[in-house]
Amino acid sequence: MKIFIDTANIDHIKEVNSWGILSGVTTNPTLCAREGREFRSAVKKICEMVKGPVSAEAVSMDRQGIVEEARELSKIAENIVVKVPMMVEGLAATKVLSQEGIKVNMTLVFSANQALLAAQVGAAYVSSFIGRLDDAGNDGMSILADIVAAYDNYDIETEIIAASIRHPMHVTQAALLGADIATVPYDVLKAMVKHPLTDRGIERFLEDWNKLKKATR
Ligand code: G3P
Repeated sequence: MKIFIDTANIDHIKEVNSWGILSGVTTNPTLCAREGREFRSAVKKICEMVKGPVSAEAVSMDRQGIVEEARELSKIAENIVVKVPMMVEGLAATKVLSQEGIKVNMTLVFSANQALLAAQVGAAYVSSFIGRLDDAGNDGMSILADIVAAYDNYDIETEIIAASIRHPMHVTQAALLGADIATVPYDVLKAMVKHPLTDRGIERFLEDWNKLKKATR
């Protein structure tokens, strides 16, 4: 499973990219608004920093508007993927865009049926929102499981992104289900690195090493 970072924070992207684990970036209007930077230049910078796919969201609500916005976004860099919301106008726009070779990440997907429709119109990625379903008292992971199973039945090539990740267990569960990608917030990525036994183990090794150095000086 590939790991993307779900943020528009340049410093966080730079840091995590330096770890060597990053395959791509997803942003959304909320994440971009949080950073307060000019959208196009921020996306351009992210595309330069990370070689993998970088999702930037179209905000038009009609098919023609989405198509035009997506064409403009795709000029920013070769690795741009346009995020398009799951709705009738989004499906129609995605059909046009995928035929033009513009990659679409169909977002705000909360059911297997929505994911099946995204695949029909050639979406390159489908973002299955886990955490928001959990927040609403549903089981986000079971929807992701349905999408993986349905896609597997027909060898659908649309890549499944586990999105709206809230904690490290979401990432593990998404991997066990066979999601292609997990797009993970910065804090959750940092938590994934950590384990108290690892920290304790490092401490103990260093202590013992220093003891050995003293004793053999
Ligand atoms: O980028 C899409 C998604 O990951 C947003 O997640 O935390 O706003 O539910 P969240």
